[in-house]
Amino acid sequence: MAQIIDGKALAEELRGEIRERVENFKKERGKDIGLAVVLVGENQASKVYVRNKIKACEEVGIKSFSYHLPEETSEEQIISLVDELVASENVHGILVQLPLPKHIDEQKVLRRIPPAKDVDGFCAENVGNLAMNRETIVACTPYGVMKMLEKYGIDPKGKTAVVLGRSNIVGKPMAMLLLNADATVTVCHSKTKNLQQVCAGADILVVAIGKAKFVTADMVKEGAVVIDVGMDRDENGKLCGDVDFEHVKDKASLITPVPGGVGPMTITMLLYITVIAASRS
Ligand code: GUN
Repeated sequence: MAQIIDGKALAEELRGEIRERVENFKKERGKDIGLAVVLVGENQASKVYVRNKIKACEEVGIKSFSYHLPEETSEEQIISLVDELVASENVHGILVQLPLPKHIDEQKVLRRIPPAKDVDGFCAENVGNLAMNRETIVACTPYGVMKMLEKYGIDPKGKTAVVLGRSNIVGKPMAMLLLNADATVTVCHSKTKNLQQVCAGADILVVAIGKAKFVTADMVKEGAVVIDVGMDRDENGKLCGDVDFEHVKDKASLITPVPGGVGPMTITMLLYITVIAASRS
């Protein structure tokens, strides 16, 4: 049976380091590290994510500036708020929770955030730097996955890595990080042919497609490292991932559970990135 990655323990260990760095920043600069979080509308999942992000900031001593705007807020109003946050010396990172309501052009809003305060790593400059393997801000979920691999002694160099999912938030930056770490990377998506065969060739399989228990044991190579970014509900409404954990765990050498795997690392990496953004300011 696979060794199970303890994302919670890893996140807690990292938060200890982050707390220290936050304290040092305060001593050296005489002010707090600040993260602004903007939520528009009533998307239930977004409300939970944002609440957790704000709570995590408090736990490590980062000052959060939280804005919950009504669904009908205009694009101009959101942009005006973002511009204010960009100008504030007390705000080191700005996070606009996605998705935004349909009448808002997300890219138009996100483009107002300068690369140095783009703690999501969403802007073209940060993505471009990642593609060119230069110092940058990387989206927190894939960054957290890389930290996990490192902590568990997995060096992607020369390994075959398959990323299932091609989203801008997870799949694409994940593929670039693995490539930058010298893995041979394949990105699969809904149009990929022979998916089972491609996945079964992976030494490292990262899954981020949002489909409950989609990855079955026949899609996994004996001894593979399996990272599950999914956060789904099974047929009984129970929280589960994109991987059929119960069956895949007997084949993998290392696997993340859901919950308790990638999830706790994601928010921790946001805190980590905010500290880095503040230190560079
Ligand atoms: N919505 C779902 N995941 C994310 C994320 O990582 N950042 C932002 N800003 N919105 C999201």
